Amino acid sequence: MSKTPFQTVAIDLAERSYDIYIGSALIQQQALFDGLPKASSVLIVSNTTVAPLYAAQLRAALSARYAKVLTLELPDGEVHKNWQTLNLIFDALLQNGCDRKTLLVALGGGVVGDMTGYAAASFMRGVPFMQVPTTLLSQVDSSVGGKTGINHPLGKNMIGAFYQPLLVLCDLDTLKTLPERELSAGLAEVIKYGPIADLQFMDWLEQNMDRLLARDVDALAHAVKRSCEIKAWVVAQDEREGGLRAILNFGHTFGHAIEAGMGYGAWLHGEAVGCGMVMAAKLSERLGLVDADFVARLLALTVQAGLPVVGPVLNAEDNAGRYLELMRLDKKSDAGEIKFVLIDGPSKATVRGAPDALVRDVIDACCKV
Ligand code: NAD
Ligand code: GLY
Repeated sequence: MSKTPFQTVAIDLAERSYDIYIGSALIQQQALFDGLPKASSVLIVSNTTVAPLYAAQLRAALSARYAKVLTLELPDGEVHKNWQTLNLIFDALLQNGCDRKTLLVALGGGVVGDMTGYAAASFMRGVPFMQVPTTLLSQVDSSVGGKTGINHPLGKNMIGAFYQPLLVLCDLDTLKTLPERELSAGLAEVIKYGPIADLQFMDWLEQNMDRLLARDVDALAHAVKRSCEIKAWVVAQDEREGGLRAILNFGHTFGHAIEAGMGYGAWLHGEAVGCGMVMAAKLSERLGLVDADFVARLLALTVQAGLPVVGPVLNAEDNAGRYLELMRLDKKSDAGEIKFVLIDGPSKATVRGAPDALVRDVIDACCKV
């Protein structure tokens, strides 16, 4: 069967290298699965929202190569990214006689992708897996680079593993059914690549945000491809986040505090990251690393993408104190010192600490009172 055209971004990780395919009508193309390993069974892990939309097409395409293709529908939502839901994947694998060659396929957004990847990393000490991301956020970030895991009530993504997929299939057509709010949330992770790595891409985003919001497929293809290229460049140098990879967490230190402080799911991950980027940029400005004009540009782009830029109040009595308490749980923290990803001039990021008093000022300035 012939393949319709698509673009490829390669993730270069020696024996763990793989490709990201980006294009339209990919999930129904049997030929794209030709390079996957042989197995007696495949488990597509999805959720109650995405499976009814896309699982049948994917199952049909995979059935040409695999004799047994099973589908599991998890409950939908960040609030379900936990042990209990993870166990549903292990239950399905064991109840259906799956083995160590069984291929796991994540069909959904970052929540499904992170949980399926972690299940693949741990079932029988590791089975092959593939990502079919269906949100903008998961196509530009979470499906690529091998971070997998679940949340703990005390902190986001606290339990997990680095485990790379064999293939990532970004079918842009799936974005047609994405709710507007989720599209904006995904744009936060797209925008982040500009200030940390590529000023030209930031210019392009300023000029093309309307096309992205209108889901113009060529604009989406460019945004997904450029985002994946930048992520590939970072991950190839620092797969397990010994240093450089932390820059991909721009906006996430404040953002994770917002998500945990509000209760998972109240703010979408991308919304929290969008607001968190503005807060991190303001902290960078206060530290003299970047000028006010650049911060204003980033803020305007974030607003243009339909994202919130005013932080929520997490505690009426000591809001900044609550943010600091939550941010100390961040995985980048070192001996209790919070490490922030900051903008060190346009398109250059640095990871460093900041005095609590200054962070408090920034939180006070950025949050609704
Ligand atoms: P999500 O997975 O919750 O998906 C958002 C919503 O959109 C869900 O309700 C989902 O069912 C629905 N949906 C998905 N695809 C759809 C489609 N095509 N049409 C209609 N509805 C659709 O959220 P997300 O924003 O994709 O991912 C957020 C998660 O990703 C967070 O848990 C975050 O921690 C994680 N993440 C991980 C990494 C990583 O490197 N592993 C990076 C960034 C974010
Ligand atoms: N999303 C951040 C990372 O993959 O490192």
